[in-house]
Amino acid sequence: MPEYTEEDFDLETRMVAPEYTPDDAEVENPLRPKQLSDYIGQEKVKENMSVYIRAALKRQETLDHVLLYGPPGLGKTTLAGIIANELGVHLRITSGPAIERPGDLAAILTNLNPGDVLFIDEVHRLPRTVEEILYPAMEDFSLDIITGKGQMAASYHLPLPHFTLVGATTRAGQLSAPLRDRFGIVERLELYAPRDLARIVTRSAGILGVEISAEGALEIASRSRGTPRIANRMLKRVRDFAQVASDGKITYEAAKKALDRMEVDELGLDANDRRMLLTMIRYYNGGPVGLETLAAAIGEEAVTLEDVYEPYLMQIGFLQRTPRGRVATKAAYLHLDVPYPEPQADPQQQTLF
Ligand code: ADE
Repeated sequence: MPEYTEEDFDLETRMVAPEYTPDDAEVENPLRPKQLSDYIGQEKVKENMSVYIRAALKRQETLDHVLLYGPPGLGKTTLAGIIANELGVHLRITSGPAIERPGDLAAILTNLNPGDVLFIDEVHRLPRTVEEILYPAMEDFSLDIITGKGQMAASYHLPLPHFTLVGATTRAGQLSAPLRDRFGIVERLELYAPRDLARIVTRSAGILGVEISAEGALEIASRSRGTPRIANRMLKRVRDFAQVASDGKITYEAAKKALDRMEVDELGLDANDRRMLLTMIRYYNGGPVGLETLAAAIGEEAVTLEDVYEPYLMQIGFLQRTPRGRVATKAAYLHLDVPYPEPQADPQQQTLF
């Protein structure tokens, strides 16, 4: 078997980071399902969206505005593309931080065709001034724009084509109430079960022309922390290992070996997850420790911890959010091979019984 070194592979970006990177555009685009029937998992969301889309088509109306929320990498953009495709309209993609001024939004909205889907990613990051002109646009399909100051001030009322706004956010709680209330459809995307992720990996492998066994797919799925974007990225890297090290077929052994080399463990935790949990255990006795304190201790942003690290660690029962801070659970200690200090019984409690 040919020997390979880490330099043979691009390991610079965090393998289990669900953030979108340009590399994903390459992999994900052909892998993105175009129809609801090809979209795997998220059954409840799919069933609901299917009804809303068919009803809108039947009534020949635009679909009500849709808010999709949940952790990154679960297919919110993919779903927006499917919604547009199923409605037979164009999709226009932008993001909250990209729309800096009301004029930017006005330019986008006035260029839409009737019925189009406008996808705004990170919709919670829209500037307040932009949000304010979005309200009448969503509600009445019109823009109220004021130009100039003092005597030169003029206000324009501009009718817009009817459109569907699909907003995506990792944090529905950060959306202002007036904006949240203007979405008629609100759907939460959940982390995927390994079984569904394995189906996604098998489908993607088919599109990429890679041979993969059911066990190989499940191994990649189990280490992808519930996230298709990570699963598809891992598939691509495992394919590299399999091609260099063997005949290119992704078996259980090939997947396991490649993922071990990438330091992603059996549960999908990478060095950063382990560092965070070990910091909690070693320096804060397992917690409770405040979010900001923990973020500073490991040199990450608090929002990254909240959006990227924590959802999966909570899902697998390694982390709890309590009012006093974050707590590492016994399961986390066991996984990291650290003896768990059983809590001492409270002596005062003992005297009561
Ligand atoms: N790629 C990303 N998300 C997907 C999903 N839910 N189904 C199929 N392919 C996907």
